[in-house]
Amino acid sequence: MAKAQKLYACTVCGVTQPKWAGQCPGCEAWNTLVEEMVTHTPGTPAPTKTGRLLTLDTLDAPLTPLTRSMSDIGEFDRVCGGGLVPGAVILLGGDPGIGKSTLLLQVAAALSAHNPCLYISGEEAADQVRLRAQRLGVEKCPLRLASATSLNDIIATLEKEKPAPKLVIIDSIQTMFLEQLDSAPGSVSQVRACTQELIRLAKKSQMTFILVGHVTKEGAIAGPRVLEHMVDTVLYFEGERGHHFRILRGVKNRFGATDEIGVFEMGREGLAEVPNPSELFLSQRGENVPGSVIFAGLEGTRPLLVEIQALVAPSSLGTPRRSVIGWDAGRLSMVIAVLETRCGVTFGARDIYLSVVGGLRISEPAADLAVAAALLSSLYNVPCPHDTVYFGEVGLSGEVRSVAQEELRLKEASKLGFEKAVIPARRQKVKVPLPSLAIDEVAFLADIGRSFETQEALAS
Ligand code: TYD
Ligand code: MG
Repeated sequence: MAKAQKLYACTVCGVTQPKWAGQCPGCEAWNTLVEEMVTHTPGTPAPTKTGRLLTLDTLDAPLTPLTRSMSDIGEFDRVCGGGLVPGAVILLGGDPGIGKSTLLLQVAAALSAHNPCLYISGEEAADQVRLRAQRLGVEKCPLRLASATSLNDIIATLEKEKPAPKLVIIDSIQTMFLEQLDSAPGSVSQVRACTQELIRLAKKSQMTFILVGHVTKEGAIAGPRVLEHMVDTVLYFEGERGHHFRILRGVKNRFGATDEIGVFEMGREGLAEVPNPSELFLSQRGENVPGSVIFAGLEGTRPLLVEIQALVAPSSLGTPRRSVIGWDAGRLSMVIAVLETRCGVTFGARDIYLSVVGGLRISEPAADLAVAAALLSSLYNVPCPHDTVYFGEVGLSGEVRSVAQEELRLKEASKLGFEKAVIPARRQKVKVPLPSLAIDEVAFLADIGRSFETQEALAS
């Protein structure tokens, strides 16, 4: 007879052990062990020791061609690596209310025009999904719908369904459960076992699955980290609550590049694609404000111009405040330290606020130079020229280092009507590809510091 046994599982790495402990022995995270009930069947036969012989292959054996299905929502298809691959399992994470269900309903509805698609919601009743479909104007699409949480029922239905669905949405994996396990839905063992079952079915039947995953307070997909290792693709849907922009970011993709982003705008009728995000992010820029700088960034294969704002303000606190939105706080401290030590700039006891406008998150070190320029511009109260973009990485000795895809960034700046670019000094003089753009090469951060100082002196 099967016997239920109490175990403690880590919600981060999935390690199980019989006793509770404050720190996980696997990943050394604190307070991550939770109680789980697992069923152990005594008397299961020992695994056989002899295995079948494998057929070994060569690298140049002919490939089975991948036929990707396109949803015609270009931003989504690109982040997936150019459409959905049969048999792939995709995990979509994001904060509650950010628009995961909306995005997936739109994608499934668009795909259902050419392929049989299924939307299974464990969180909402079928009527709620229908209401949303009406709001999105997709209620006439041939998408099939079910509200269920029992994975056994879902798998039985999927295996019987004719024609076999090409795409199945599971919203969300934390609400699904297998009756064989005693633990509650959303627990580490349920989430892991359900995902394993779905992966097995996906590989066998060549259906594509998109699983919605809730995120924890820390922003990771709830359930063990192993979930991210098990699936083929991990996407995050992010954005600031107060903004309309939503960014779909690929963090793992076995069938394409991971550094792609898709930009959407949440409106009354759902998510609309934003094919030219630079224009959108720059649309509300004020003219000649000190502390505002345009950074020519890169997201995946796409150049993206964004505004970075800094405010250096007198502080009333003993320890001045450093507040960052959309960039790395450690990186800001480094840029400030380099400015103070290598360029003779003193911020003294001033608060420093830095913000990437539009709710975007930048992770590139290439933004260092733009951040430094924004800080200096605010400190000296000298506006940066309105028609200038900046990019470049700053090293600890104050040197400005070159970054990837400089030409691409310059082209985007020129396309949007910018006239000057401040960029890292290049070792080989490459011919400037764009006659309309004046290039100002800087080798050291101190050069930029001096130009702001001179302008301040001239102004006063
Ligand atoms: P939802 O897709 O339910 O989020 P998630 O599944 O990630 O929890 O999105 C809910 C939010 O989106 C909700 O606050 C309302 C908003 N919304 C719109 O602004 N416009 C729309 O057309 C829809 C469908 C939702
Ligand atoms: Mg939802």
